[in-house]
Amino acid sequence: MVKKQVNIYKRFERFWHWTQASLIIFLAITGFEIHGSFELFGFEKAVSFHQKTSFALLGLIAFAIFWHITTGEWRQYIPTTHKLIDQIRYYLFGMFRGEKHPVEKTELSKLNPLQRLIYLGFKIVLIPIVVVSGLLYMFHKTIDINNIVVISKFDLEPIATLHTLGAYLLLAFLIIHVYMTTTGQTPLSNIKAMITGYEEIEQEEEQQQEKGNIS
Ligand code: HEM
Repeated sequence: MVKKQVNIYKRFERFWHWTQASLIIFLAITGFEIHGSFELFGFEKAVSFHQKTSFALLGLIAFAIFWHITTGEWRQYIPTTHKLIDQIRYYLFGMFRGEKHPVEKTELSKLNPLQRLIYLGFKIVLIPIVVVSGLLYMFHKTIDINNIVVISKFDLEPIATLHTLGAYLLLAFLIIHVYMTTTGQTPLSNIKAMITGYEEIEQEEEQQQEKGNIS
């Protein structure tokens, strides 16, 4: 095994990751102000900021879907149970005993089985819950203002509840996610990799030679 600096996160991926994080944090701040949790911008401004930021997030999601499909990076999120239990055991006990990571990170498989499962859930369950309920929330208001009732008996209560629930889950994800990023080779190595794109990972000798032959 040889340690080598590998470009694990591509330029767009890093842009998408940090932009998405910033937009979600801002949506959480403005959203919870709308919810009445605290006062910062004032209700009217919070609503306006929340709406504009949600459009930016929708645009970013569209680009991210296109990027994942065209680059084939969506394959990184195919769930697997292989070494899943080992990975959970590592997070619960192993890492506190200084054990080795059960799954080695490679360029073609940068997510461990637990990350695959959780990030897939984030992408296909959590984000859609917040986005769809948010759009229904917005759509409902637009219908009312224009007095054009497309869907009659459109009850806002369950939509607002679902949107708020999604927001709480996103917040919980964010906290756990930030904590988990500190469990890499060093506490900051994963965050540094998402900034620079590069991470020092172990490569098999043959994998190295193969790369050498190609380049
Ligand atoms: C595309 C994404 C999103 C859309 C379209 C959207 C849309 C909306 C709309 C229209 C409202 C109601 C504003 C009003 O009362 O006029 C709202 C409220 C809210 N949003 Fe979002 N939102 C999105 C993403 C998010 C995210 C990512 C979070 C948090 C992480 C969030 C948290 C909240 C919260 C907590 C409320 C207050 C809910 C309540 O008390 O009823 N939203 N959102």
